Amino acid sequence: MTKIIGTSPLREDARVKIDGAAKYVDDLSFPGMAYAMLVRSPFPHAKISEIDASHALELPEVVAVITAKDIPGKNKIPIVFDDQPCLAEDEARYIGEPVAIVVANDRRTAQIAATLVSVKYSELPAITDPLLSLAEGAEKVNPVLGNILSRHKVNKGDVDSAMSIADVVVEGEYKTGYQEHAYIETQGVIAVPENEGGIALYGSMQCPFYIHKALGYVLGIPLSKLRVIQTVTGGAFGGKEDFPSLPATHAAIAAYLTSRPVKLVMTREEDILCSTKRHPGIVRIKYGARRDGTIIACDAEYILNAGAWSTLSPIVLWRGTVHSGGPYRIENFRVDAKAVATNSVPNGAFRGFGQPQVCFANESLIDELAVKLGMDPVELRLRNALDIGLETLTNHVIKESCGLKKVISLVRDEVKWLENRSRKERVLSNGKYYGVGFSAAFYGTGLGAGGKKIDRSGAFLQVAFDGSVQIAVGTTEMGQGHNTVLSMIAAEELGADVKKVSMLPIDTSRVPDSGPTVASRATMMSGQAIRDAAKQVRKIIHDVVAKRLGVAVETLEFEPGVIFSGAKKITFEEAVTWCFDERVHLAAQGWFKAPNTEWNSENGLGDAYYAYTYTAIGAEVAVDKETGEVEVLRIVSGHDIGKAINRREVEGQIQGGAVQGMGYALYEDLVSTNGKIIRPNFSGYIIPTAADIPEIKPVIVEEPYEGGPFGAKGLGEPPLIAIAPAIANAIFDAIGVRIKKLPMTPERILETLEAVR
Ligand code: MOS
Repeated sequence: MTKIIGTSPLREDARVKIDGAAKYVDDLSFPGMAYAMLVRSPFPHAKISEIDASHALELPEVVAVITAKDIPGKNKIPIVFDDQPCLAEDEARYIGEPVAIVVANDRRTAQIAATLVSVKYSELPAITDPLLSLAEGAEKVNPVLGNILSRHKVNKGDVDSAMSIADVVVEGEYKTGYQEHAYIETQGVIAVPENEGGIALYGSMQCPFYIHKALGYVLGIPLSKLRVIQTVTGGAFGGKEDFPSLPATHAAIAAYLTSRPVKLVMTREEDILCSTKRHPGIVRIKYGARRDGTIIACDAEYILNAGAWSTLSPIVLWRGTVHSGGPYRIENFRVDAKAVATNSVPNGAFRGFGQPQVCFANESLIDELAVKLGMDPVELRLRNALDIGLETLTNHVIKESCGLKKVISLVRDEVKWLENRSRKERVLSNGKYYGVGFSAAFYGTGLGAGGKKIDRSGAFLQVAFDGSVQIAVGTTEMGQGHNTVLSMIAAEELGADVKKVSMLPIDTSRVPDSGPTVASRATMMSGQAIRDAAKQVRKIIHDVVAKRLGVAVETLEFEPGVIFSGAKKITFEEAVTWCFDERVHLAAQGWFKAPNTEWNSENGLGDAYYAYTYTAIGAEVAVDKETGEVEVLRIVSGHDIGKAINRREVEGQIQGGAVQGMGYALYEDLVSTNGKIIRPNFSGYIIPTAADIPEIKPVIVEEPYEGGPFGAKGLGEPPLIAIAPAIANAIFDAIGVRIKKLPMTPERILETLEAVR
């Protein structure tokens, strides 16, 4: 029985974040610090023939103007394919692309000077629509990779034959918009020159080791001379996964060339215009089913608008591809997916990572299939749901930890599905129309077959004389509760007091590389690495204790804070002092490699991931037919996560994800016209506020996964993924129209209502 796992100790970072003591990157200052500002392309595609910095340099407070030719190392940002430059050289390929770095003694001068750098552009034709980019004879958008930046296919069984014998076939095309991460803290970094030509880079980030590598590229100096320090990070959601490498390299180059600390903090407008976002998507999907509801075929096409450079698009696309038919056993499955280059801001990682787009499509279409079959949509999902012994879309046979049917049933009951679905009186007292909708999803934890080479984690654990414990890992706290969860895992496994466990601040020169903090992987991967270290240290302690107590080590039992053998008992603290007396080393390195996956990239079949989180969502809405406005009345959000390490944090993730999913579904409308994002601010881009948030009821299912710490699987992203289709299905239930494009704004709902009138 665990004592700490499953409880809800207070977040270790709660107080400093609430009382304002936490120091974010823009709160930091270094002696002699200068400020950097970027000169950015105003055109979606243009030739750059000349950059004249003379007017900017006339300002006395301007320190330097840096262009591509000044970059000491490679003009490349390493991510998947090294296609993206740090600074545009001959051509700019999206609005906002960095062209030059202006460094000044103060922020205001840097801003002014950036407007004084005169860049001679000649505009070139731009392609901003992914379908035009795919057209025969289209101009090449991405000079390195062409217009299809990445393509993935899965081919299982014989889709065409199965479709031809299906009793019922449904198909549809669904479109999804951009989503901006809207983290509270904008992108920001400070680069500080260090001894012997090194650079220390401070900043708001998810993946310090990604940035570390990028700095090595652009500076051309050994990684051992570079260190990256994560400052308190005010939200990320994937937006601080790949993107920060770009501002980090800009600040680092500036610091390196001027020998001064350089701060670069993006304004909100700049951040919305120039940082990565969720990819707009187009999904065409078709299901074929037997009369009894068994889905026998699924055929899908998935297109992502990637923007000008490939960033993480190949992996975003891959995750979407292998999940695109939904959490169902379908014998015949085919998908063709492409990430397409356009002359617009590059898109990248965002919570859900290519899955929310396909989930909106497939879970909307499942409801249409239910209508056509005359079957209850929850029944239809249960009939086809993945289970132990069944295989996923990619033929991964599920051997353990599959709580999908359980989570669907629990959410169905919690949302009072049968009762609410069959309500006769649909018009509420305020004149709005009531509806209830359902959706389901699965989510492969970790990087899976697509990223297995970096799916490992390191940890270091040491115990001090007073029995307190210090842990170092390379995964990061960005507001999700990472440090508290990992401290709990360490305390449980070591037998220590959770209040005395501390996580070392992230500095790449002091913590092991634990891979990126993405893909809902940190609890599982770093959790396992910490357990590995904790078990080693526990053994060292128990050996000493057994010897001193005069008992066999096998007879020792422990729980957090105490070790005992029969009636003999000592505290953890006492045991530690014994160990110090004995001069043993109370420290260990832990390591964890993700379980192996067998994957065939030819046909896209195999174990896409090692374990999956399973989700079911129930949503109740009230729709105003006059204004088209949708009010979400209640969300029930259920997830089989293997094990809730910290219950309150799990509920927090579930609720936060639901709110972000509501924004994606209903409000967040980032409009881009010819590659230009209009209204780059929170008065034009509407995110949910506290007033919009209904009761969000978490349902937690724990089907333990053997390979995870105490059975845990990933949770960070699943709570967002299936919210939009549940709301779309509820809208359909309420007013009988199906909205096939996100966000489902009042305007879009009214238009759709008009069209069917
Ligand atoms: Mo992510 S969207 O940080 O895997």
